[in-house]
Amino acid sequence: MNKQSTTVSQRLAAVFFCASVCVSFAGSVVAGGDPEAGKVASAVCSACHGADGNSTIPTNPKLAGQYESYLVHALKAYRSGERNNAIMSGFAANLTDQQIADLAAYFSSQESNLQTVIPK
Ligand code: HEC
Repeated sequence: MNKQSTTVSQRLAAVFFCASVCVSFAGSVVAGGDPEAGKVASAVCSACHGADGNSTIPTNPKLAGQYESYLVHALKAYRSGERNNAIMSGFAANLTDQQIADLAAYFSSQESNLQTVIPK
């Protein structure tokens, strides 16, 4: 009886332990990007894309205000080679999923200076 109940509580403890690990693991996978961490990581990107993602160089796309999901998709595509660009492949190659999420959160939260031409 006593031995039996110990076994049951041990099993329950194992189940709860596993459940909490699984929940925290899932939490870290679905966690959104941290724009503050992205700002720090964006230092290397700023020479080409501008400090806030408003590139002033026509050959380097503006990232400010871009859809977050688009930035994540683009960076993962460069990283995997699905999108091939000699410059960006190198910069994306060693980014982790979390760094990509952080960078996307930062640039997407910046105000874009893109504008449409309004006819006079
Ligand atoms: C040496 C210049 C340079 C640096 C540094 C650089 N990029 Fe780029 N980036 C480019 C160029 C050029 C392109 C356009 C490539 C193409 O045609 O696919 C680009 C494209 C992109 C795109 C796709 C934009 C779009 O509209 O499709 C994203 C996202 C991006 N860069 C993010 C970053 C991030 C994040 C960093 C820093 C980790 C970074 N870049 C560093 C030059 C640079």
